[in-house]
Amino acid sequence: MPKPKVLISEDSIKQRIATLSQEITKAASEDIVIVVLLKGAFIFTADLLRSLSDSGLQPEVEFMTLSSYGSGTKSSGHVRVHGDIPLELDGKTVLIVDDILETGNTLVKARQLLSQSGASDVKICVLLQKRITATPEIQADFVGFEIDDHFVVGYGLDYDNRYRELPYIGLL
Ligand code: IMP
Ligand code: MG
Repeated sequence: MPKPKVLISEDSIKQRIATLSQEITKAASEDIVIVVLLKGAFIFTADLLRSLSDSGLQPEVEFMTLSSYGSGTKSSGHVRVHGDIPLELDGKTVLIVDDILETGNTLVKARQLLSQSGASDVKICVLLQKRITATPEIQADFVGFEIDDHFVVGYGLDYDNRYRELPYIGLL
C-alpha cells in the first residue's frame, strides 16, 4: 500500500483537539450525550473525549453506525443505518461526532434519527469539513479543520476500510 502524504500532522491534530475541547466545554451543558458515528469517528472521539475530560466535561457516550460510501471515493448519496440507534435520549442534549462533513447526507440522517429518539437539542462536531460548492443542508457547530476537496485517509478515515490507523490525515 502506498504511504499517504501528510496533509494534517499528528501534532496539529493534538493541538487542535485541545482547543476544540475547550470550545465545546464552554458551549455545552454538563449532561450532554456524545453520539459517535462509526466507523470513521472512533479514533477522533477517543482523543476528544479524554481531552474533554481534562477540560472538565464527562459526557455519556453512545454509538451509531452509518455508511454512505460503499468502497469507492465518492459518496453514494444513500445513507445506510447499520445496527442499533441510541433510543433513550428524552430531553437530552446530544453532540454528534463525525470524522468529516462532505455532502452532509450522513449528518442529516443522523440528526433526524436522534431527534426521533427524543433528543431536545442536537449539536454537531466534525474533525474535518470540506470546502465544497454545494450549499450544505447542515452546519457543524464545531469544526476541527477545513480542507479542500481531496479524498483523505487516516486518523479513523478510510479508503476501503484501510488506513484508519494512520496517526495523521493523509492524501492518497
Ligand atoms: P457526507 O454524507 O457526504 O457528508 O459524507 C460523510 C461521510 O463520508 C463521512 O462520515 C466519511 O465516512 C465519508 N467521507 C467523506 N469524505 C471522505 C474522505 O475524504 N475520506 C474518507 N471518508 C470520507
Ligand atoms: Mg463516516
